[in-house]
Amino acid sequence: MSLAPRPLVRAMLLACAALLAFSQGSPAADAATISISCSGVGQELEFCKGAAETWAKKTGNRLKVVTSPNDASERLALYQQLLSAGSDKVDVLQVDVIWPGLLGNHLLDLRPYARGAQEQHFASFIANNTSHGRLVAMPWFANAGLLFYRSDLLAKYGQPLPSTWEQLTASARQIQDGERAAGNERMWGYVWQGRAYEGLTCNALEWVASHGGGTIVEADGKISIDNARAASALNSAAAWVGGISPTAVLNYAEEESRGVFQAGHAVFMRNWPYAWALAQAAESAIRGKVGVAMLPKGGDDGRHAATLGGESLAVSKYSRHPAAAADLVLYMTSAAVQKDRALRGSFNPTIPALYQDAEILRANPFMGELVDTLRNAVARPTAVTGVRYNQVSHQFWNAAHDVLSGKASADQALARLEQSLQRLSRRGKWH
Ligand code: GLC
Repeated sequence: MSLAPRPLVRAMLLACAALLAFSQGSPAADAATISISCSGVGQELEFCKGAAETWAKKTGNRLKVVTSPNDASERLALYQQLLSAGSDKVDVLQVDVIWPGLLGNHLLDLRPYARGAQEQHFASFIANNTSHGRLVAMPWFANAGLLFYRSDLLAKYGQPLPSTWEQLTASARQIQDGERAAGNERMWGYVWQGRAYEGLTCNALEWVASHGGGTIVEADGKISIDNARAASALNSAAAWVGGISPTAVLNYAEEESRGVFQAGHAVFMRNWPYAWALAQAAESAIRGKVGVAMLPKGGDDGRHAATLGGESLAVSKYSRHPAAAADLVLYMTSAAVQKDRALRGSFNPTIPALYQDAEILRANPFMGELVDTLRNAVARPTAVTGVRYNQVSHQFWNAAHDVLSGKASADQALARLEQSLQRLSRRGKWH
């Protein structure tokens, strides 16, 4: 018996295959390949990949995840290179809270795609991400510098939570000495980010602002960094190096500090919220022994100061698939994805309603307790310095690094920095 004519069989098979592919959500004929660049600090890459893959499956698009350097300053250099070349290699980029002014011209206005979704986010983030009236990035997660501490060790040594840097220094010293004498030779008092990069700008701004030494450049454009309070803040930090902090801290970024703290080798750590979920993870050596608090004040007349950080997602103007790329950004920054990231990764949402969510607050008690710290976080002087911010920051972190490594006194370094910023700004006129 002859079978059905061959062309018909082939056509039927093709139709079945197409149907099957459609029902399984395989890429449609006009599917786009969207490439997204995420940083990999802690669980960032894993979370970015996971959510983006879910979107790709749902929408039938394909995905390419491009890893980029963890060091924020290196990531900026890479993005500036890609964007100024008009490259279409990356469609979606992870944009630091300090970059919208620097990169805005190369980013798509997301307003037509967002259709009001931006209203859910903190208005301050939306304002930050608006450049010349264009919404160039959707807020993804918020950051503020926090003090992580070993609650078990503070209790063992009868030490209260330090409310000033001086108290932190004394407790760190006492516990470090005590633990070392008891045979724990690798114990350090305090780890933080001292490498010459944007992270040091964040740490040093916290020391300076907490001592009442201003914010490098003030909102009216005045360069304020050459002052006695700022100098004393930097001198105190320099005294930690080789004392309560390993000399290697001069080359630490976020992950190096977390590595030491999470292995149980430090009493205190300055870091961003992401470190909480990891410190509390099943495999962490310090699970159940960690607390999170505000960073200390600079003396009794100082204040608690946390640098404001955070990340957004943006679409490159040179993307060949702007609509699909914007759809991915809106999905990744949605309340549902932000909630999942908060629950499993302790990433602070940028949607105020999520701070009322009982599950999120249970998983991250600090998000409720430190809500004022997060709300009053100190912004880096991006608004006033505009496109020159990265040069300002670069000069500031180099000056701070020189003081920390003993290459210059704080007085010398800050006087030189002030002069150089005066030249950069044409005497405080930034625009
Ligand atoms: C975090 C913050 C970012 C900051 C960077 C410094 O990624 O979100 O704002 O610039 O750390 O290392």
